[in-house]
Amino acid sequence: MKDSKLSAAEVIAGWNAPDQVAAAQAHLLSPFESMEKLGQTPDRPLLTRGEGVWLYDEAGRQLLDGPAGMWCTQVGYARPEIAEAIAAQAMTISYSSPWYFLNGPSAALAARIAAVTPGDLNHVFFTTGGSSAVDSALRFMQFYNNVLGRAGKKTILARIDGYHGSSHLTAAVSGRAGNRPNFDLEMETISFLSAPNMFTRPEGMDEAAFCDHLIAELEERIETLGADSIGCFIAEPVLASGGILVPPQGYHQRTLEICRRHDILYISDEVVTGFGRLGHWFASEEVYGITPDIITFAKGVTSGYVPLGGFAISDAVLARIAGEKSKQSFYSNGYTYSGQPVACAAGLASMDIIEGDGLLEHVRDIAPYFQAQLATLADLPLVGDVRGAGLLGCVEIVADRAKGVSTDLDAKLTLRIDRLCYDKGLIVRPIRSMCVMSPALVITREQIDLMVRILRESITEVGIAARAEGLLP
Ligand SMILES: Cc1ncc(COP(=O)(O)O)c(C=O)c1O
Repeated sequence: MKDSKLSAAEVIAGWNAPDQVAAAQAHLLSPFESMEKLGQTPDRPLLTRGEGVWLYDEAGRQLLDGPAGMWCTQVGYARPEIAEAIAAQAMTISYSSPWYFLNGPSAALAARIAAVTPGDLNHVFFTTGGSSAVDSALRFMQFYNNVLGRAGKKTILARIDGYHGSSHLTAAVSGRAGNRPNFDLEMETISFLSAPNMFTRPEGMDEAAFCDHLIAELEERIETLGADSIGCFIAEPVLASGGILVPPQGYHQRTLEICRRHDILYISDEVVTGFGRLGHWFASEEVYGITPDIITFAKGVTSGYVPLGGFAISDAVLARIAGEKSKQSFYSNGYTYSGQPVACAAGLASMDIIEGDGLLEHVRDIAPYFQAQLATLADLPLVGDVRGAGLLGCVEIVADRAKGVSTDLDAKLTLRIDRLCYDKGLIVRPIRSMCVMSPALVITREQIDLMVRILRESITEVGIAARAEGLLP
Protein backbone atom coordinates (compact mmCIF):
# COMPACT_ATOMS: atom_id res chain seq x y z
CA MET A 1 0.00 0.00 0.00
CA LYS A 2 2.98 2.35 0.45
CA ASP A 3 2.91 3.48 -3.21
CA SER A 4 -0.83 4.14 -3.21
CA LYS A 5 -1.77 7.35 -5.02
CA LEU A 6 -5.50 7.77 -4.96
CA SER A 7 -6.23 11.15 -6.49
CA ALA A 8 -8.79 13.55 -5.02
CA ALA A 9 -10.91 13.47 -8.17
CA GLU A 10 -10.99 9.67 -8.33
CA VAL A 11 -11.79 9.28 -4.66
CA ILE A 12 -14.58 11.86 -4.82
CA ALA A 13 -16.02 10.19 -7.90
CA GLY A 14 -15.97 6.89 -5.99
CA TRP A 15 -14.27 4.97 -8.82
CA ASN A 16 -12.05 2.93 -6.56
CA ALA A 17 -14.02 1.98 -3.46
CA PRO A 18 -12.10 -1.30 -2.87
CA ASP A 19 -8.79 0.66 -2.99
CA GLN A 20 -10.18 3.15 -0.48
CA VAL A 21 -11.13 0.36 1.91
CA ALA A 22 -7.69 -1.21 1.46
CA ALA A 23 -6.05 2.16 2.19
CA ALA A 24 -8.12 2.50 5.37
CA GLN A 25 -7.21 -1.03 6.42
CA ALA A 26 -3.51 -0.37 5.95
CA HIS A 27 -3.19 3.23 7.12
CA LEU A 28 -6.19 4.72 8.90
CA LEU A 29 -6.46 4.82 12.68
CA SER A 30 -10.09 5.67 13.46
CA PRO A 31 -11.66 6.99 16.69
CA PHE A 32 -12.45 4.13 19.05
CA GLU A 33 -10.35 1.76 16.94
CA SER A 34 -10.32 -1.78 18.25
CA MET A 35 -6.58 -2.41 18.66
CA GLU A 36 -7.28 -6.14 18.56
CA LYS A 37 -8.66 -5.83 15.04
CA LEU A 38 -6.24 -3.21 13.71
CA GLY A 39 -5.26 -4.06 10.13
CA GLN A 40 -8.18 -6.40 9.58
CA THR A 41 -11.00 -5.60 7.17
CA PRO A 42 -12.63 -2.54 8.74
CA ASP A 43 -16.09 -3.17 10.18
CA ARG A 44 -17.08 0.40 9.28
CA PRO A 45 -18.80 0.59 5.90
CA LEU A 46 -17.44 3.02 3.33
CA LEU A 47 -19.92 5.78 2.58
CA THR A 48 -19.71 7.17 -0.89
CA ARG A 49 -22.42 9.81 -1.16
CA GLY A 50 -25.00 11.78 0.81
CA GLU A 51 -28.07 13.79 -0.11
CA GLY A 52 -30.55 15.36 2.31
CA VAL A 53 -31.12 12.79 5.08
CA TRP A 54 -29.84 9.93 2.90
CA LEU A 55 -26.46 8.24 2.74
CA TYR A 56 -25.23 5.69 0.21
CA ASP A 57 -22.60 3.04 0.89
CA GLU A 58 -20.12 1.35 -1.42
CA ALA A 59 -22.64 -1.43 -2.12
CA GLY A 60 -25.07 1.20 -3.38
CA ARG A 61 -27.37 0.77 -0.39
CA GLN A 62 -29.57 3.77 0.45
CA LEU A 63 -29.61 4.53 4.18
CA LEU A 64 -31.67 6.92 6.25
CA ASP A 65 -29.13 8.66 8.47
CA GLY A 66 -30.68 8.32 11.95
CA PRO A 67 -27.93 10.08 13.97
CA ALA A 68 -27.27 12.83 11.34
CA GLY A 69 -23.62 11.80 11.12
CA MET A 70 -22.55 12.55 14.69
CA TRP A 71 -25.54 14.81 15.49
CA CYS A 72 -24.24 17.39 13.08
CA THR A 73 -25.70 17.40 9.56
CA GLN A 74 -28.43 19.94 10.39
CA VAL A 75 -29.40 21.08 6.86
CA GLY A 76 -28.67 17.69 5.30
CA TYR A 77 -26.07 16.48 2.83
CA ALA A 78 -25.21 18.05 -0.53
CA ARG A 79 -26.54 21.56 -0.11
CA PRO A 80 -25.00 23.52 -2.97
CA GLU A 81 -25.22 26.80 -1.02
CA ILE A 82 -22.67 25.54 1.52
CA ALA A 83 -20.44 23.90 -1.09
CA GLU A 84 -20.45 27.12 -3.11
CA ALA A 85 -19.66 29.27 -0.07
CA ILE A 86 -16.72 26.98 0.77
CA ALA A 87 -15.40 27.10 -2.79
CA ALA A 88 -15.89 30.86 -3.14
CA GLN A 89 -14.16 31.63 0.15
CA ALA A 90 -11.31 29.23 -0.66
CA MET A 91 -10.74 31.12 -3.92
CA THR A 92 -11.03 34.55 -2.24
CA ILE A 93 -8.79 34.04 0.75
CA SER A 94 -8.36 30.48 1.95
CA TYR A 95 -6.58 31.29 5.21
CA SER A 96 -5.57 34.18 7.41
CA SER A 97 -3.76 34.08 10.73
CA PRO A 98 -6.09 35.00 13.59
CA TRP A 99 -3.02 36.19 15.54
CA TYR A 100 -2.30 39.04 13.13
CA PHE A 101 -5.36 39.62 10.96
CA LEU A 102 -9.11 39.82 10.88
CA ASN A 103 -11.14 38.02 8.26
CA GLY A 104 -14.68 38.84 7.17
CA PRO A 105 -16.32 35.43 7.60
CA SER A 106 -15.17 35.00 11.23
CA ALA A 107 -16.23 38.55 12.14
CA ALA A 108 -19.59 38.11 10.43
CA LEU A 109 -20.21 34.68 11.95
CA ALA A 110 -19.30 35.91 15.45
CA ALA A 111 -21.84 38.73 15.06
CA ARG A 112 -24.44 36.36 13.64
CA ILE A 113 -24.01 33.90 16.53
CA ALA A 114 -23.97 36.68 19.13
CA ALA A 115 -27.32 37.85 17.75
CA VAL A 116 -28.94 34.48 18.57
CA THR A 117 -27.31 33.67 21.91
CA PRO A 118 -29.22 34.45 25.08
CA GLY A 119 -28.68 37.55 27.23
CA ASP A 120 -25.35 39.32 26.98
CA LEU A 121 -23.33 36.45 25.48
CA ASN A 122 -21.94 38.80 22.89
CA HIS A 123 -18.38 37.64 22.21
CA VAL A 124 -17.43 34.49 20.33
CA PHE A 125 -14.14 32.58 20.36
CA PHE A 126 -13.70 30.12 17.49
CA THR A 127 -12.01 26.74 17.70
CA THR A 128 -11.71 23.65 15.53
CA GLY A 129 -14.52 21.50 16.95
CA GLY A 130 -16.35 20.56 20.13
CA SER A 131 -13.42 19.29 22.19
CA SER A 132 -11.38 22.40 21.50
CA ALA A 133 -14.44 24.55 22.24
CA VAL A 134 -14.96 23.00 25.67
CA ASP A 135 -11.24 22.86 26.36
CA SER A 136 -10.97 26.58 25.55
CA ALA A 137 -13.95 27.42 27.76
CA LEU A 138 -12.48 25.47 30.68
CA ARG A 139 -9.11 27.13 30.14
CA PHE A 140 -10.89 30.47 30.08
CA MET A 141 -12.26 29.68 33.54
CA GLN A 142 -8.71 29.01 34.79
CA PHE A 143 -7.37 32.17 33.14
CA TYR A 144 -10.27 34.26 34.49
CA ASN A 145 -9.77 33.15 38.07
CA ASN A 146 -6.02 33.67 37.86
CA VAL A 147 -6.50 37.22 36.59
CA LEU A 148 -9.03 37.81 39.36
CA GLY A 149 -6.42 36.67 41.87
CA ARG A 150 -8.36 33.55 42.84
CA ALA A 151 -5.80 30.89 41.98
CA GLY A 152 -7.54 28.31 44.17
CA LYS A 153 -10.92 28.61 42.44
CA LYS A 154 -10.43 26.02 39.71
CA THR A 155 -12.39 22.86 40.49
CA ILE A 156 -14.71 21.81 37.69
CA LEU A 157 -18.10 20.38 38.62
CA ALA A 158 -19.19 17.89 35.95
CA ARG A 159 -21.69 15.06 35.73
CA ILE A 160 -21.46 11.30 35.46
CA ASP A 161 -22.46 10.30 31.91
CA GLY A 162 -21.66 13.75 30.56
CA TYR A 163 -19.54 13.88 27.42
CA HIS A 164 -17.44 16.91 26.56
CA GLY A 165 -14.71 15.75 24.24
CA SER A 166 -11.50 13.93 23.60
CA SER A 167 -8.74 16.35 24.61
CA HIS A 168 -6.78 15.82 27.81
CA LEU A 169 -9.00 18.11 29.87
CA THR A 170 -12.34 17.47 28.16
CA ALA A 171 -11.88 13.70 28.43
CA ALA A 172 -11.22 14.19 32.14
CA VAL A 173 -14.49 16.08 32.67
CA SER A 174 -16.44 13.51 30.65
CA GLY A 175 -18.13 11.19 33.10
CA ARG A 176 -18.64 8.24 30.79
CA ALA A 177 -16.69 5.26 32.07
CA GLY A 178 -16.21 3.76 28.58
CA ASN A 179 -13.88 6.58 27.53
CA ARG A 180 -11.41 6.00 30.34
CA PRO A 181 -9.58 2.66 30.17
CA ASN A 182 -5.84 2.91 29.50
CA PHE A 183 -5.73 6.70 29.45
CA ASP A 184 -4.16 8.97 32.03
CA LEU A 185 -6.42 11.78 33.07
CA GLU A 186 -5.72 14.61 35.50
CA MET A 187 -8.68 14.25 37.81
CA GLU A 188 -7.60 16.26 40.87
CA THR A 189 -9.57 19.36 39.97
CA ILE A 190 -12.70 17.58 38.79
CA SER A 191 -15.68 16.64 40.93
CA PHE A 192 -18.50 14.53 39.51
CA LEU A 193 -22.16 14.88 40.37
CA SER A 194 -24.88 12.32 39.62
CA ALA A 195 -26.32 12.07 36.13
CA PRO A 196 -29.80 13.61 35.98
CA ASN A 197 -31.09 10.29 34.67
CA MET A 198 -34.85 10.02 35.11
CA PHE A 199 -34.86 6.42 33.88
CA THR A 200 -32.52 5.11 36.57
CA ARG A 201 -33.60 7.46 39.38
CA PRO A 202 -34.12 5.83 42.76
CA GLU A 203 -37.18 3.60 42.92
CA GLY A 204 -40.34 5.42 43.97
CA MET A 205 -38.93 8.94 43.56
CA ASP A 206 -41.08 11.25 41.43
CA GLU A 207 -39.66 13.90 39.11
CA ALA A 208 -39.88 16.76 41.61
CA ALA A 209 -38.28 14.72 44.40
CA PHE A 210 -35.53 13.57 42.03
CA CYS A 211 -34.80 17.18 41.14
CA ASP A 212 -34.62 18.09 44.86
CA HIS A 213 -32.26 15.15 45.36
CA LEU A 214 -29.89 16.34 42.60
CA ILE A 215 -30.00 19.93 43.84
CA ALA A 216 -29.25 18.81 47.39
CA GLU A 217 -26.23 16.89 46.10
CA LEU A 218 -24.95 20.01 44.31
CA GLU A 219 -25.42 22.17 47.41
CA GLU A 220 -23.68 19.60 49.61
CA ARG A 221 -20.78 19.32 47.19
CA ILE A 222 -20.26 23.07 47.19
CA GLU A 223 -20.47 23.08 50.97
CA THR A 224 -17.90 20.27 51.21
CA LEU A 225 -15.41 21.59 48.66
CA GLY A 226 -15.99 25.26 49.43
CA ALA A 227 -17.24 27.72 46.82
CA ASP A 228 -13.83 29.39 46.88
CA SER A 229 -12.33 26.29 45.28
CA ILE A 230 -14.91 25.79 42.51
CA GLY A 231 -14.40 27.53 39.18
CA CYS A 232 -17.25 26.25 37.05
CA PHE A 233 -20.09 23.86 36.50
CA ILE A 234 -20.23 22.28 33.04
CA ALA A 235 -23.44 20.73 31.77
CA GLU A 236 -25.04 19.67 28.52
CA PRO A 237 -28.70 20.88 28.58
CA VAL A 238 -29.60 17.33 27.51
CA LEU A 239 -26.86 14.74 28.04
CA ALA A 240 -26.37 13.45 24.51
CA SER A 241 -23.80 10.65 24.31
CA GLY A 242 -24.75 9.74 27.88
CA GLY A 243 -28.07 8.51 26.48
CA ILE A 244 -30.37 11.49 25.77
CA LEU A 245 -30.89 12.28 29.43
CA VAL A 246 -33.35 15.12 29.86
CA PRO A 247 -32.96 16.50 33.40
CA PRO A 248 -36.04 16.88 35.58
CA GLN A 249 -38.15 20.01 35.34
CA GLY A 250 -36.53 22.95 37.14
CA TYR A 251 -33.03 21.43 37.25
CA HIS A 252 -31.46 23.90 34.84
CA GLN A 253 -32.76 27.02 36.59
CA ARG A 254 -31.94 25.75 40.05
CA THR A 255 -28.38 24.72 39.18
CA LEU A 256 -27.79 28.09 37.50
CA GLU A 257 -29.16 29.98 40.48
CA ILE A 258 -26.83 28.08 42.84
CA CYS A 259 -23.83 28.74 40.60
CA ARG A 260 -24.61 32.46 40.45
CA ARG A 261 -24.95 32.58 44.24
CA HIS A 262 -21.47 31.11 44.63
CA ASP A 263 -19.79 32.97 41.75
CA ILE A 264 -19.24 29.70 39.87
CA LEU A 265 -19.18 30.03 36.08
CA TYR A 266 -21.97 28.10 34.36
CA ILE A 267 -20.82 26.55 31.08
CA SER A 268 -23.64 25.15 28.98
CA ASP A 269 -22.21 22.65 26.51
CA GLU A 270 -24.48 23.03 23.49
CA VAL A 271 -22.24 21.19 21.05
CA VAL A 272 -25.18 18.86 20.35
CA THR A 273 -28.21 20.91 21.40
CA GLY A 274 -27.20 24.08 19.54
CA PHE A 275 -28.11 25.12 16.00
CA GLY A 276 -31.66 23.89 15.87
CA ARG A 277 -31.67 20.42 17.37
CA LEU A 278 -34.28 21.45 19.92
CA GLY A 279 -36.02 23.91 17.59
CA HIS A 280 -34.00 26.98 18.61
CA TRP A 281 -30.54 28.29 17.87
CA PHE A 282 -29.61 27.39 21.45
CA ALA A 283 -31.60 25.41 24.00
CA SER A 284 -30.27 27.00 27.20
CA GLU A 285 -32.67 29.92 27.37
CA GLU A 286 -35.42 29.18 24.90
CA VAL A 287 -36.04 25.61 26.05
CA TYR A 288 -34.69 25.53 29.60
CA GLY A 289 -34.97 29.16 30.72
CA ILE A 290 -31.33 29.82 31.62
CA THR A 291 -28.75 32.35 30.47
CA PRO A 292 -25.42 30.69 31.19
CA ASP A 293 -22.08 32.52 31.36
CA ILE A 294 -20.59 30.54 28.49
CA ILE A 295 -22.14 28.41 25.74
CA THR A 296 -19.94 26.01 23.79
CA PHE A 297 -20.95 24.96 20.26
CA ALA A 298 -19.61 22.98 17.27
CA LYS A 299 -21.11 20.29 15.00
CA GLY A 300 -24.31 21.91 13.65
CA VAL A 301 -22.66 25.32 13.27
CA THR A 302 -21.49 24.23 9.79
CA SER A 303 -23.96 21.34 9.44
CA GLY A 304 -20.87 19.12 9.53
CA TYR A 305 -19.51 20.28 6.16
CA VAL A 306 -16.19 21.42 7.66
CA PRO A 307 -14.82 21.42 11.23
CA LEU A 308 -15.61 24.43 13.42
CA GLY A 309 -16.47 25.06 17.05
CA GLY A 310 -16.28 27.78 19.63
CA PHE A 311 -17.78 29.40 22.65
CA ALA A 312 -19.90 32.46 23.28
CA ILE A 313 -19.28 34.36 26.51
CA SER A 314 -21.13 37.03 28.43
CA ASP A 315 -20.18 40.68 28.57
CA ALA A 316 -20.62 40.58 32.35
CA VAL A 317 -17.92 37.91 32.74
CA LEU A 318 -15.54 39.58 30.30
CA ALA A 319 -16.02 42.96 31.98
CA ARG A 320 -14.51 41.59 35.18
CA ILE A 321 -11.14 41.00 33.53
CA ALA A 322 -11.13 43.47 30.63
CA GLY A 323 -9.81 47.00 30.26
CA GLU A 324 -8.33 48.41 33.45
CA LYS A 325 -9.08 45.18 35.29
CA SER A 326 -7.08 43.05 32.84
CA LYS A 327 -3.72 43.41 34.62
CA GLN A 328 -2.20 43.43 31.11
CA SER A 329 -3.24 39.83 30.64
CA PHE A 330 -3.68 38.02 27.33
CA TYR A 331 -6.06 35.11 26.85
CA SER A 332 -3.21 33.20 25.27
CA ASN A 333 -5.25 30.24 24.14
CA GLY A 334 -5.72 29.87 20.41
CA TYR A 335 -5.50 27.76 17.32
CA THR A 336 -4.04 28.17 13.86
CA TYR A 337 -7.58 27.56 12.67
CA SER A 338 -9.45 29.84 15.12
CA GLY A 339 -11.91 31.64 12.84
CA GLN A 340 -10.69 29.79 9.73
CA PRO A 341 -12.38 31.78 6.93
CA VAL A 342 -13.53 28.83 4.83
CA ALA A 343 -15.07 27.14 7.88
CA CYS A 344 -16.75 30.38 8.96
CA ALA A 345 -18.12 30.94 5.45
CA ALA A 346 -19.65 27.46 5.68
CA GLY A 347 -21.13 28.45 9.06
CA LEU A 348 -22.71 31.57 7.57
CA ALA A 349 -24.15 29.58 4.65
CA SER A 350 -25.54 26.95 7.01
CA MET A 351 -27.19 29.61 9.17
CA ASP A 352 -28.63 31.18 5.99
CA ILE A 353 -30.26 27.86 5.11
CA ILE A 354 -31.59 27.26 8.63
CA GLU A 355 -33.16 30.71 8.51
CA GLY A 356 -34.22 30.74 4.87
CA ASP A 357 -35.83 27.30 4.98
CA GLY A 358 -37.50 27.96 8.35
CA LEU A 359 -35.80 24.91 9.86
CA LEU A 360 -36.18 26.03 13.48
CA GLU A 361 -39.92 26.33 12.95
CA HIS A 362 -39.90 23.00 11.11
CA VAL A 363 -38.20 21.29 14.08
CA ARG A 364 -40.67 22.81 16.52
CA ASP A 365 -43.47 21.55 14.31
CA ILE A 366 -42.17 18.04 13.65
CA ALA A 367 -40.43 17.19 16.95
CA PRO A 368 -43.65 16.25 18.81
CA TYR A 369 -44.46 13.83 15.96
CA PHE A 370 -40.92 12.38 16.10
CA GLN A 371 -41.20 11.88 19.87
CA ALA A 372 -44.72 10.42 19.63
CA GLN A 373 -43.75 7.96 16.91
CA LEU A 374 -40.64 6.80 18.80
CA ALA A 375 -42.82 6.41 21.91
CA THR A 376 -44.99 3.85 20.08
CA LEU A 377 -42.02 1.46 20.35
CA ALA A 378 -42.47 1.29 24.13
CA ASP A 379 -44.91 -1.62 23.72
CA LEU A 380 -42.12 -3.93 22.50
CA PRO A 381 -40.90 -6.33 25.22
CA LEU A 382 -37.23 -5.46 24.57
CA VAL A 383 -37.78 -1.71 24.95
CA GLY A 384 -37.10 -0.47 28.48
CA ASP A 385 -37.51 3.25 27.89
CA VAL A 386 -38.13 5.80 25.16
CA ARG A 387 -37.15 9.39 25.86
CA GLY A 388 -36.04 12.54 24.14
CA ALA A 389 -36.35 16.24 23.43
CA GLY A 390 -36.65 18.05 20.10
CA LEU A 391 -34.98 15.96 17.42
CA LEU A 392 -33.04 13.92 19.97
CA GLY A 393 -34.50 10.52 20.79
CA CYS A 394 -33.41 7.34 22.52
CA VAL A 395 -34.86 3.85 22.57
CA GLU A 396 -33.21 1.94 25.40
CA ILE A 397 -33.02 -1.82 25.07
CA VAL A 398 -33.48 -3.71 28.34
CA ALA A 399 -33.60 -7.50 28.10
CA ASP A 400 -34.54 -8.06 31.72
CA ARG A 401 -35.30 -5.15 34.03
CA ALA A 402 -34.69 -7.39 37.06
CA LYS A 403 -31.05 -7.81 35.98
CA GLY A 404 -30.59 -4.03 35.68
CA VAL A 405 -30.15 -1.71 32.72
CA SER A 406 -27.39 -1.55 30.14
CA THR A 407 -26.11 -5.07 30.77
CA ASP A 408 -23.69 -6.76 28.37
CA LEU A 409 -26.63 -8.71 26.96
CA ASP A 410 -28.53 -5.45 26.32
CA ALA A 411 -25.50 -4.07 24.49
CA LYS A 412 -25.15 -7.25 22.43
CA LEU A 413 -28.80 -7.21 21.39
CA THR A 414 -28.60 -3.50 20.55
CA LEU A 415 -25.66 -4.19 18.27
CA ARG A 416 -27.71 -6.83 16.50
CA ILE A 417 -30.61 -4.39 16.16
CA ASP A 418 -28.20 -1.86 14.70
CA ARG A 419 -26.93 -4.38 12.11
CA LEU A 420 -30.45 -5.39 11.12
CA CYS A 421 -31.57 -1.76 10.83
CA TYR A 422 -28.58 -1.15 8.54
CA ASP A 423 -29.59 -4.05 6.30
CA LYS A 424 -33.10 -2.61 6.16
CA GLY A 425 -31.84 0.90 5.30
CA LEU A 426 -31.50 2.79 8.59
CA ILE A 427 -28.33 3.93 10.37
CA VAL A 428 -28.68 3.70 14.16
CA ARG A 429 -25.18 3.94 15.71
CA PRO A 430 -25.95 2.36 19.06
CA ILE A 431 -24.45 3.76 22.25
CA ARG A 432 -24.11 0.59 24.27
CA SER A 433 -27.75 -0.44 24.83
CA MET A 434 -29.29 2.71 23.40
CA CYS A 435 -30.57 3.32 19.89
CA VAL A 436 -30.09 7.06 19.61
CA MET A 437 -31.83 8.98 16.85
CA SER A 438 -30.99 12.60 16.03
CA PRO A 439 -31.84 13.09 12.37
CA ALA A 440 -31.05 16.09 10.19
CA LEU A 441 -33.41 18.99 10.85
CA VAL A 442 -34.89 18.61 7.37
CA ILE A 443 -36.45 15.21 8.13
CA THR A 444 -40.08 14.72 7.03
CA ARG A 445 -42.99 12.83 8.63
CA GLU A 446 -42.71 10.06 6.01
CA GLN A 447 -39.03 9.62 6.81
CA ILE A 448 -39.82 9.48 10.55
CA ASP A 449 -42.42 6.79 9.78
CA LEU A 450 -39.81 4.80 7.87
CA MET A 451 -37.30 5.14 10.71
CA VAL A 452 -39.78 3.92 13.31
CA ARG A 453 -41.02 1.09 11.09
CA ILE A 454 -37.48 -0.24 10.58
CA LEU A 455 -36.73 0.09 14.29
CA ARG A 456 -39.93 -1.81 15.19
CA GLU A 457 -39.23 -4.63 12.73
CA SER A 458 -35.59 -4.95 13.77
CA ILE A 459 -36.23 -4.90 17.53
CA THR A 460 -39.02 -7.46 17.09
CA GLU A 461 -36.93 -9.79 14.91
CA VAL A 462 -33.91 -9.61 17.22
CA GLY A 463 -36.19 -10.39 20.19
CA ILE A 464 -37.63 -13.46 18.44
CA ALA A 465 -34.16 -14.74 17.46
CA ALA A 466 -32.76 -14.13 20.97
CA ARG A 467 -35.64 -16.03 22.52
CA ALA A 468 -35.05 -18.94 20.12
CA GLU A 469 -31.38 -18.97 21.17
CA GLY A 470 -32.34 -19.05 24.85
CA LEU A 471 -30.82 -15.62 25.54
CA LEU A 472 -34.19 -14.30 26.71
CA PRO A 473 -36.84 -15.95 28.88
C1 LIG B 1 -21.78 17.65 24.27
C2 LIG B 1 -20.51 17.44 23.52
N1 LIG B 1 -19.46 18.25 23.79
C3 LIG B 1 -18.30 18.12 23.14
C4 LIG B 1 -18.12 17.16 22.18
C5 LIG B 1 -16.80 17.02 21.48
O1 LIG B 1 -16.93 17.46 20.16
P1 LIG B 1 -15.86 17.04 19.04
O2 LIG B 1 -16.06 15.57 18.80
O3 LIG B 1 -16.25 17.90 17.87
O4 LIG B 1 -14.51 17.36 19.53
C6 LIG B 1 -19.18 16.30 21.87
C7 LIG B 1 -19.02 15.26 20.84
O5 LIG B 1 -19.89 14.44 20.60
C8 LIG B 1 -20.39 16.43 22.57
O6 LIG B 1 -21.42 15.59 22.35
